Amino acid sequence: MRPLTIIGNWKMNGSLANNQLMLETLLAEGHETFKSLYCDLPISLGMCVPYPYLSQAHGLLKNTKVALGAQDVSDHPNGAYTGDVSAAMLQEMGCTYVIVGHSERRQHHQESDDLVARKAKATLQAKMIPIICVGETEKEYENGSTLVVVRKQLQAVIDLLQGQIASCVIAYEPVWAIGTGKVPSPAQAQEVHHQLRLQLATFNAEAAEKVAILYGGSLKADNAKELLAMPDIDGGLVGGASLNTEEFLALCQACI
Ligand code: PGA
Repeated sequence: MRPLTIIGNWKMNGSLANNQLMLETLLAEGHETFKSLYCDLPISLGMCVPYPYLSQAHGLLKNTKVALGAQDVSDHPNGAYTGDVSAAMLQEMGCTYVIVGHSERRQHHQESDDLVARKAKATLQAKMIPIICVGETEKEYENGSTLVVVRKQLQAVIDLLQGQIASCVIAYEPVWAIGTGKVPSPAQAQEVHHQLRLQLATFNAEAAEKVAILYGGSLKADNAKELLAMPDIDGGLVGGASLNTEEFLALCQACI
């Protein structure tokens, strides 16, 4: 049985004052959902914040059960890469998770499947957990190529990581569902998750059973329960709803 994992993704949102308020409220009000966010939780919980706020968020979340994450990483260990941030730096800032290959990075920064795979490898080398995002665009969805697209994205990672894939988290995020309020039906999402797990199983059956495959794209308190009840959906990657503490906790409440 794979435990549920709920990861928030603030994207490029936040301010020192607002972050403090959100995280303090999360920790204070988490008792309704979890009793306390300082004791063992029934699910794995994390929050991926912008780079400049990692230190602040680490200060607020350390000694709690809410893991810290980043939203991207360089595939290089160090050197002349102005503006980039290495995996070792993120690890030093207290990160447990790193999102790699988010569709917004693939789209706005032309990240290829190979680059995403190298970023996942760099993350693992620094002893953190990559959350590897895959997902089809609206056009690809409409022309029926969802599975071709997500399989290609996942295969690039399997080819590079081999057995290390067992230590990763995968997130299926249909691009057309991100921030749009549109969601696939639970059965549709389950089918894609199932196919991704089968693909992992052709490589390594044990890894396929172990790897958490999260769903992301307009996940909210009122649709989370049905989606997360599906056998191959092991949690959620939550964008917009993670910026509203009440909504985020209600989403967690709905699925535990
Ligand atoms: P959303 O974003 O929940 O706002 O749709 C999800 C994501 O991009 O990870």
